[in-house]
Amino acid sequence: MTIHNDSILILDFGSQYTQLIARRIREMEMYCEIHPYHHPLREIQAFSPRGIILSGGPASIYSEDAPRIDSNLYELGIPVLGICYGLQITSYLLGGRVSSATEREYGRAQLQLVNRDSPLWRDVPDHSVVWMSHGDQLESIPDGFEVIGRTDNSPYAAVCNPDRQIYGIQFHPEVVHTEAGLQVLRSFIFDICGCQGGWTMGNFISQTVKDVQERVGSGRVLLGLSGGVDSSVLALLLHQALGDQLHCLFVDNGVLRLGESDKVTRTFQGQFHLDFERVDASDQFLTRLEGVEDPEQKRRIIGEEFVKVFFNSAGQFDFLAQGTLYPDVIESVSTKGPSDTIKTHHNRVPEILELDRQGKVIEPLKELFKDEVRLLGSELGLPEEILYRHPFPGPGLAVRIIGEVTRERLDTVRQADAIILSEMKSGGFYRKVWQSFAVLLPTQAVGVMGDERTYGNVVALRVVESQDAMTADWVNLPHELLARIANRIVNEVSSVGRVVYDITSKPPATIEWE
Ligand code: XMP
Repeated sequence: MTIHNDSILILDFGSQYTQLIARRIREMEMYCEIHPYHHPLREIQAFSPRGIILSGGPASIYSEDAPRIDSNLYELGIPVLGICYGLQITSYLLGGRVSSATEREYGRAQLQLVNRDSPLWRDVPDHSVVWMSHGDQLESIPDGFEVIGRTDNSPYAAVCNPDRQIYGIQFHPEVVHTEAGLQVLRSFIFDICGCQGGWTMGNFISQTVKDVQERVGSGRVLLGLSGGVDSSVLALLLHQALGDQLHCLFVDNGVLRLGESDKVTRTFQGQFHLDFERVDASDQFLTRLEGVEDPEQKRRIIGEEFVKVFFNSAGQFDFLAQGTLYPDVIESVSTKGPSDTIKTHHNRVPEILELDRQGKVIEPLKELFKDEVRLLGSELGLPEEILYRHPFPGPGLAVRIIGEVTRERLDTVRQADAIILSEMKSGGFYRKVWQSFAVLLPTQAVGVMGDERTYGNVVALRVVESQDAMTADWVNLPHELLARIANRIVNEVSSVGRVVYDITSKPPATIEWE
């Protein structure tokens, strides 16, 4: 575990914005961690953050199941900033009064500074727009506190006890609508908590390389390299730390995109000279997929086969490296509920869970968000083509062929997919969207060619925008681009007779078709 002697702790009360607070802080080159509000006090002391931020949350302070914290948190001598619910609970615990507002305040409000000498307000203008989202609000403040900002509806929009270094704001500094939000966070972190910052990718690399070398010693590390962003970045990072002690295994499962297997091999073996092994197990996967139409069964077969092939080809190893990211391990109140501490990120593969129990799994990226992983990859010299590639499901093209997966149908969807990706790139849209791909439908449509009626396959084009795949919007691509893609697919992929465009968002649809 990396020791961070300059860090911020965020306690999560379930706000949808909690991860956003962490992102903003890290963009300021400060390391921070999110833990649930009930994180034990002794662990907080051991982590020894320079400041603590209490997030917002959906609860009312007086409801029965309202999340509560130990008021000794305020006695640790560590500066505290409460945001929204974080402000309300602070005030409640220290002797102020909180009431259910008659009107819920939601949206923009004008913040007016009352005491502009407060260190929280460095470079914050006297009047600025802030984003509000709360029902309860403060009715009176605890002894020793003063008001430092207000809005029309919130007379206690910002309060503090400067002697104890406790601050509270009713608005959300982490959302873009709060004009001076970043400045408020910056003042808290650097002026009030006295943080140094400088947590850069360069520092992350040197620290992680050192940690990994210490942990691994002269051992051998095995990594499943898929060619996706996370495992690719991890491969380069571990290679920098361990050289040929790192062994990368790439499994060709037969449902990859056109040229993918060769491309990954060229990059990691040819360009980066990793100890890289390609295992071509296509026949094995495709044989087991014969006659299978149910998507969940396809997923199960591909998952099982992967584990078999991977561990059969692995040879001796001392550690298994995994590209787990921070969002997978945050034990967040908003996503998993306060009492759920189950680790879900190993996909519950028993072999990997067992290795984890034996302390043989290393996850050097588990402190990073996705965009930080990209930044890291870019520092390590990973080609942009890999750095910005669209997410691709583990079960690959098998879930983009509706119905049975045959070699012929794989060829069809592969060629259509390659045309889509190449046109999205040359049209300048590839980097602007979340995913773009072809789906082969289990139906034939009639057409005419010369004097003959023909029956060809139907391909659906799916292009979506998204932040995190939880929701997604279909993309209104220029008609010329849609026309070019459709023309090329019908002309160049002989088995396809029609192309249709999927104009459904998620929800109610999903991104993939099965
Ligand atoms: P859906 O279709 O559920 O997809 O909206 C959300 C995101 O997850 C990807 N996806 C998968 N990834 N194994 C994966 O590794 C799967 O079985 C799988 N199914 C969907 C999908 O591409 C999208 O990015």
